[in-house]
Amino acid sequence: MDSFLIKGGVPLRGEVTISGSKNAALPILAATLLTAEPCIIRRVPDLSDTRYMVKILESLGATAKFEDGTVTVHAKKIKGYADYDLVRKMRGSICIAGPLLARLHKARISLPGGCIIGARPINLHLKGFAALGAKIKIEGGYIDATAKKITGGSMFLGGRAGPTVLGTANVMMAASLGEGITVIESAACEPEVVDLANFLNAMGAQITGAGSPTITIQGVTKLHGAEHEVIPDRIETATFIIAAAATNGEVTVKGGRADHLRAVLDKLNEANVSVERKGADMVVKRKGKLKPVDITTLPYSGFPTDVQAQMMSLLALAPGISILTERIFESRFMHVSELARLGAEIEIEGPSAIVKGGKPLSGAQVMASDLRASAALVIAGMAAKGSTQVNRIYHLDRGYEKMDEKLKQLGARIQRVEGS
Ligand code: EPU
Repeated sequence: MDSFLIKGGVPLRGEVTISGSKNAALPILAATLLTAEPCIIRRVPDLSDTRYMVKILESLGATAKFEDGTVTVHAKKIKGYADYDLVRKMRGSICIAGPLLARLHKARISLPGGCIIGARPINLHLKGFAALGAKIKIEGGYIDATAKKITGGSMFLGGRAGPTVLGTANVMMAASLGEGITVIESAACEPEVVDLANFLNAMGAQITGAGSPTITIQGVTKLHGAEHEVIPDRIETATFIIAAAATNGEVTVKGGRADHLRAVLDKLNEANVSVERKGADMVVKRKGKLKPVDITTLPYSGFPTDVQAQMMSLLALAPGISILTERIFESRFMHVSELARLGAEIEIEGPSAIVKGGKPLSGAQVMASDLRASAALVIAGMAAKGSTQVNRIYHLDRGYEKMDEKLKQLGARIQRVEGS
C-alpha cells in the first residue's frame, strides 16, 4: 500500500488546476447505460473510482474507452446483473440500478453494504423505484427490481438526514426512460444532480427543476447518445483552497466554480481566509491570524460533509474553539484520532467535534481511513513541523486526481512511497 511522506512547514504557492468532479462523473457514466447509442463524456477525472465505474460498465456488456480524460461508452447490448464482488468495492456503483431498471425492466444488483463513514442505506432509492412502478424484492443480499413499465409517479425522497444525492440521481435516470410524469419532492439540490440532469436532457430526456427541491421528469420512450463535459470538482477545489490557507501560502485556483462553494467560502471568510475572484480564478491567502468558526454540515447549499475533515485540519490551527457538527454521516470523524497524533486537540461530543485550535502541529505517522479524511491528514501534515507519513493513501487515489503532483507543483515537499 502506498503512502505519502510529507515534510511540513512549506507555504503553498503558485497555480493549481481543478479536475472534473468525481461525484458528477460516476452517475453520468452510469447514465450511458440508458441508450444503445455511443456517448462521449469529457473531463472525467482519472481516479480509481472512475476507472472502476468504467470496469462495471464493461462487465455489464458495454464497450468503453478511457483516454486523456474522455470516456467513450457504447452500451449496445447489456445485462442487468451485478454481483457482490463488483458492487461492494465502490458504494457509488449503486447508481447503475436506475439505468438498468429503466432500460431492461429487470435488474439484479447486490446490496453495496455500508462503509467507514456510516451505514449508508439505500431505502430511499428503493422507495423511489417503487413509486415509479417497480416491484422490489430483497433476497440473499441482492435487490431484484422488475417493472413491466416505468409508469412515473410522485414521491418524497427526504430521509433522516435530508435528501439523498445518488437516490435522486437513480430515480431521475430511471424516470427519464419511461412513461408518465414523475415528481421528486425533497430532491437533492447538489450541482452534481444538475450536471446529471443536463447530460440526461442532452440524451433527449425531459427534466426540469434540477437544482431545486422539486424535480419534474416527463418520461420518454427512447434516449439517444450524447456528449457532455463534467463540471469541475467542488470538493477538490475546496481542498486546495483549505490547503493553501492551512500552510499560510498564496495559491491561484484555476478551473473551479466559486458559485458551487458559497457555504465553504463564507466559512473561510469567517476564519479570516480571503478567496478573491479574479475572472474565473480564485486567489487564496490568509487575511491575518486564523479565527475559529462553528460549522454544521448540511445538504447543498449548506456546508458539505465532504469538506468537514479538511476544514477541521485548518481549524486545528486557528487559536480558539471551533465546533464542527456532522449532520449527514454518523461516523465521519475517523480523522479526529489521527489529527490528535499530529498534536491537534479535538474532542467528540455526540455529532460534534470540539476543536481547541492554535497548538502547533508536529509530524507523525498517521493512517488514512477514507477519502476526505486522507485529504485532511495531508493538509495537516503540510501545516505541521517535521515529517508526516500518511499511510493507506489508496483512499485518496479514489477521489483526487494526481494530488501529490499538484501539491508538488505548489512547492509542497510530498513524496509517494510505493508499497509501504
Ligand atoms: N440515506 C438514507 N437512505 C438512502 C440514501 C441515503 O437514509 O436511501 C442517508 C445517508 O445515510 C446519509 C444521507 O442520507 O445520512 C445522505 O446520503 P446521500 O444518499 O446523499 O449520499 P450518497 O448519495 O450515497 C454522495 C456522495 C458522497 C457525499 C454524499 C453527501 C457520490 C458517489 N457520493 O453519496 O461523497 O458525501 O453524497 O453529499 O456522489 C465522497 O466523495 O467522499 C463521498 C462520500
